[in-house]
Amino acid sequence: MISKDADRDSTLFSTVPVSAFIRQGLFHNLFGIVKFLPSPVGDFLRLAVLWLFGADVKFSWLRDGLTVYYPWRLAIGKNCWINEYCHFNAYGRIRIGNFVLMGHRTTIMSDDHVFDDPGIPILTQGRVGKEVIIEDDVFIGSNVFIGKGVRVGRGAVIGSGSVVIKDVEPNAIVVGNPARVLRYRGQPADSHGHS
Ligand SMILES: CC(C)(COP(=O)(O)OP(=O)(O)OC[C@H]1O[C@@H](n2cnc3c(N)ncnc32)[C@H](O)[C@@H]1OP(=O)(O)O)[C@@H](O)C(=O)NCCC(=O)NCCS
Repeated sequence: MISKDADRDSTLFSTVPVSAFIRQGLFHNLFGIVKFLPSPVGDFLRLAVLWLFGADVKFSWLRDGLTVYYPWRLAIGKNCWINEYCHFNAYGRIRIGNFVLMGHRTTIMSDDHVFDDPGIPILTQGRVGKEVIIEDDVFIGSNVFIGKGVRVGRGAVIGSGSVVIKDVEPNAIVVGNPARVLRYRGQPADSHGHS
């Protein structure tokens, strides 16, 4: 049961510091202008706006439709391909290495809502953030979800539609919800019973 007092608090302004709200708002308004501009020109403009708002970005291709929260907590290395409509919530920080391939509509969520107390709205209970790290040369399929605190090891492959909530070892190929190891790169495809 949600109490009246708690209900009164469930506004955007009461849950986000005003300075962060203004900074975030300015970013969203400016990034929104370039968000859907087609590649390749749009990729450069998206990179420029992220950089303006404190993201640690090298040159990478950022396809249209990308959504970013907290760009000042986001790092993207060089020569990555981030395909259309990816979603990066960098509240808890996101670090993406070099030569990372990411399929369209992939989500990286470095935070979660606190929901311990069933008596007050989840919206007012705050958030917990944990850094997500994607090391170099990782291939992430389309429609993947990567949750808070996950580290994806160098050279790993994540199958399309996977839900990754635990660390992925280097060179592991993982699939499914929750993601499980299919095999390791360099191993023959039938070494785990697959052909
Ligand atoms: C994960 C992936 C790389 C594996 O490719 P593969 O080694 O050729 O795998 P196979 O097709 O031989 O499948 C092996 C097993 O994994 C399963 N599998 C493969 N991909 C899967 C996926 N995304 N989710 C769940 N299971 C998957 C297969 O069903 C099969 O299971 P089985 O042996 O029990 O029948 C590939 O399926 C994939 O998802 N690629 C991502 C493509 C993409 O999104 N590209 C975006 C463009 S940037």
